[in-house]
Amino acid sequence: MKKIIILTGAGISAESGLNTFRDADGLWEGYNIEDVATPEAWQRNPELVQQFYNDRRKSVMVAQPNPAHLALAKLESKFETLIITQNIDDLHERGGSKAIIHLHGEIMYSRSSRNPALLYKMNSHEIKMGEMCELGSQLRPHVVWFGEAVPMITKAMYEMPKADMVILIGSSLAVYPAAGLLELARADIPVYVIDPKIPSVNLPNPVIKIKERASIAVPLLVEKLLKNE
Ligand code: APR
Repeated sequence: MKKIIILTGAGISAESGLNTFRDADGLWEGYNIEDVATPEAWQRNPELVQQFYNDRRKSVMVAQPNPAHLALAKLESKFETLIITQNIDDLHERGGSKAIIHLHGEIMYSRSSRNPALLYKMNSHEIKMGEMCELGSQLRPHVVWFGEAVPMITKAMYEMPKADMVILIGSSLAVYPAAGLLELARADIPVYVIDPKIPSVNLPNPVIKIKERASIAVPLLVEKLLKNE
């Protein structure tokens, strides 16, 4: 069975109503990364950090998977499919995909601020200050902040050379180590890039650029792949 690895960024969730980071109305237009998405910010003003993620969690809970998420799940019927996402929303899961690596964490889990292995699935949108883990430390978002380690990158790097095809959807490739994964694919396999503003990719691979929104382009590509398989 051919293996397809799909690398996704905030752009795949844009049409579900979730802001991207670096587009015109992006999240980093309204907030300084240093104030809400670093360990220093958490030490300095945990309430502000908590509020930033509580607000985003509320939006994620209201959002629905869009046709791009739903189409990717259909690939699993004929291909060994792995989604490696930079997104912290759960729209790939709710869209029906099973094999997913979240490089930057998952907003629907809280985590012990003392032992990062202690995760707690959330069903409400907020983590309150004073809510403690079983060790008695403050619960924090299960999200990788700038400057923190990216534990799942090792598994992602291990998987990349096994891909027979890579599809990049909705990422500006602005953030490493995620952006470096493309270079770990075998040089002979096709790389599809789906984005209304195609990011620059400098690869030896055959690169097929589809300058289109995910909800339009992904179902069409999935239909073509399933038909030709
Ligand atoms: N369909 C497909 N792509 C889209 C759409 C859409 N409807 N709308 C926007 N895009 C594209 C943009 O053109 C851009 O290339 O999605 C990309 C979004 O880029 P970023 O906002 O930089 O998001 P991302 O690449 O996921 O950011 C990576 O940066 O801030 C950190 O941790 C955060 O995981 C995030 C990481």
